[in-house]
Amino acid sequence: MNYQKLLPVLLVLILACTSSRKETDSTTEPHRPKFHFTPPSGWMNDPNGMVYYDGEYHLFYQHYPDSTVWGPMHWGHAISTDLIHWQHQPIALFPDSLGYIFSGSAVVDVNNTSGLQAGNDKPLVAIFTYDKKGFETQGIAYSTDKGRTWTKYENNPVLKNPGEKDFRDPKVFWHDESQHWIMSLAVGNRIEFYRSSNLKDWEKTGEFGREYGNHGGVWECPDLFKLPIEGTNESRWVLLVSINPGGPNGGSATQYFIGQFDGKTFTSENDPASERWVDYGPDNYAGVTWNNAPDGRTIFLGWMGNWNYAQVVPTQSWRSAMTLPRELSLKATAAGLRLAVVPSPEVLSLRGEQQAIDFKKSVSFNGLTELQVTFDLAASTSTDFGIEFFNSRNEVLRIGYNRTSNQLYVDRTKAGKQDFFDQFAAVHTALRSSSDPLLKLHLVLDVASVELFADDGTTCMTSTFFPNEDFTEFRFYSNTGETVSVSGEWFSLMTNAKVRADN
Ligand code: FRU
Repeated sequence: MNYQKLLPVLLVLILACTSSRKETDSTTEPHRPKFHFTPPSGWMNDPNGMVYYDGEYHLFYQHYPDSTVWGPMHWGHAISTDLIHWQHQPIALFPDSLGYIFSGSAVVDVNNTSGLQAGNDKPLVAIFTYDKKGFETQGIAYSTDKGRTWTKYENNPVLKNPGEKDFRDPKVFWHDESQHWIMSLAVGNRIEFYRSSNLKDWEKTGEFGREYGNHGGVWECPDLFKLPIEGTNESRWVLLVSINPGGPNGGSATQYFIGQFDGKTFTSENDPASERWVDYGPDNYAGVTWNNAPDGRTIFLGWMGNWNYAQVVPTQSWRSAMTLPRELSLKATAAGLRLAVVPSPEVLSLRGEQQAIDFKKSVSFNGLTELQVTFDLAASTSTDFGIEFFNSRNEVLRIGYNRTSNQLYVDRTKAGKQDFFDQFAAVHTALRSSSDPLLKLHLVLDVASVELFADDGTTCMTSTFFPNEDFTEFRFYSNTGETVSVSGEWFSLMTNAKVRADN
């Protein structure tokens, strides 16, 4: 091959890419969500460094600005005061001689334990993985100006690799009871726990998981936090662990364990062979919670993608979106204690007028909608029913419930483009956790994704899809007999020009 001949072609291509990136109008690009976070351009995967400080939510993310596929990882950055409207910030962390900047977390060092404070503002400290051709260590960086600019610590790495192949994704929080910083770290097939008094010197205190849960793939992106059990005075520790592959519907997904943490290690109260998933849909991965969130809230955000196909989905100038911000709690269900996941209250600010659903008619909407419907299973004779979104091209997305299998499902087999990955067209299922005769479905649709929160969030499914024309109508469907609805309402979203300020 004569590479000199290729040079002009390459130059034209590069120019075309850069200029189309600049000209891109993110509000009209096909498949670009309207109220989910997306990068301005280029590639995005995991959410990173989520921390709240001085009225601002910081969101960092795995980012390769120069391409729409994964590459040398940077930390992209955005700031929001309401979790919905995001202002893009300059890239916070660039790769350096120690490696690419992989996933990690950020904390507010309220007591200046690190000694990195330089003015009145508390230092924000990011703890991340350096990956150099697969060799992984942990480094830190800090900001003394409310997260606007970041400096890498001069003595990185702060945690060296003892000889492990996969040694990454530190999630750090301040543990009041033991007066230490605690780090959960994904190490091969387990989570290791480390502690520190200054964010610079770390000692290993325990590990969990070799014999627990799903091991269909490598363990990644842990998170550890305490949650109250609704309606009681009790609480439990919850450990999130993302895994790829091994997810309940193929590829990437996030499992969780409920148990105790004594300042050194986590012990699970679940049967070691059991599996629990934060989300049974195919498109919620690497999600973790905000550090230092106000009012004791536990706010979660995941990457709305799946490593099986995220790099080939049919979007142009950018790839991937985040899930909605979600609130986590623990609920007792028929199946036992479960994580309940619902949209954060801030999402309600997107709502237009509330409208009653007439189950006999189809409804037109603007491509963005939220539905809340309750069905009475005891009074119904049908065995398979749900809501379908459709467009004028006969493309359809179904979200339903099958009584025979007791499964909720999202059927994207006819929901548009699918030739980019042979298993993209699929019906994804989740066993229902609740046994309540009233089945509650809560759906949020934003151009190219649907998030299902069933039975107050005790079963959750997130799915992306790529219709050739936006879905702007929905209707109810049912196989045989009668399906009795108790209530049904829908909202168009972002009417009244409540458009995000950025992204
Ligand atoms: C999860 C993950 C992390 C890693 C990052 C690299 O999706 O594989 O384990 O830090 O992505 O981009």
